[in-house]
Amino acid sequence: MHFLDLVKLRQSNRAYGDTVVEREKIERVLEAGRLSPSANNAQSWTFVVANNAETKNRVADATHTLGGSFVRQAPVIIALVAEKPILISRFGSAFKKIDFTSLDIGIAAAHICLQAAEIGLGTCMLESFDEKKAKIALGVPDNRRIALLITLGYPADRQREKKRKAFDDVVRWNRY
Ligand SMILES: Cc1cc2nc3c(=O)[nH]c(=O)nc-3n(C[C@H](O)[C@H](O)[C@H](O)COP(=O)(O)O)c2cc1C
Repeated sequence: MHFLDLVKLRQSNRAYGDTVVEREKIERVLEAGRLSPSANNAQSWTFVVANNAETKNRVADATHTLGGSFVRQAPVIIALVAEKPILISRFGSAFKKIDFTSLDIGIAAAHICLQAAEIGLGTCMLESFDEKKAKIALGVPDNRRIALLITLGYPADRQREKKRKAFDDVVRWNRY
């Protein structure tokens, strides 16, 4: 598959079948996250996989998404936990006033979702959740943040056309 076709294939899946996702496939998806780039190669993340039904449902119950049942349908939820940035990243973030850990986690999330799509799995990134509840469900310490949750499972929704701004609205050549 060409990369751009994979980009078009990945979408936020908000319906899942109940087929169990094979452990090797979950690991492959996580490997794509592990190998993704980060500022100063800081890798300030931990991927916490909720794949036993009880834990996963507790995390799902912490989410706020409209029609939130799709999160419960997903057999797996991955929490992307932001670890403390290494010193050089902390300086860089303070200097540039950009939170590099969040950028890095976004890039890891994209790798995870694209890898999932390539092997026929569906994902949806979720920022809308009760972080405290999700942290308790997963035993994440108080001094860490859950930046993002990602549902993972066999998708049961139809493939949609992408709704995006026009190319010329978001691209400038040589000058803003
Ligand atoms: C950082 C981030 C957070 C998101 N949070 C949510 C969310 O809480 N609930 C939800 O249903 N979708 C969420 N989404 C999915 C977006 O709504 C979706 O990516 C966007 O509408 C484009 O659609 P597509 O992913 O199907 O191409 C999130 C996406 C990103 C990148």
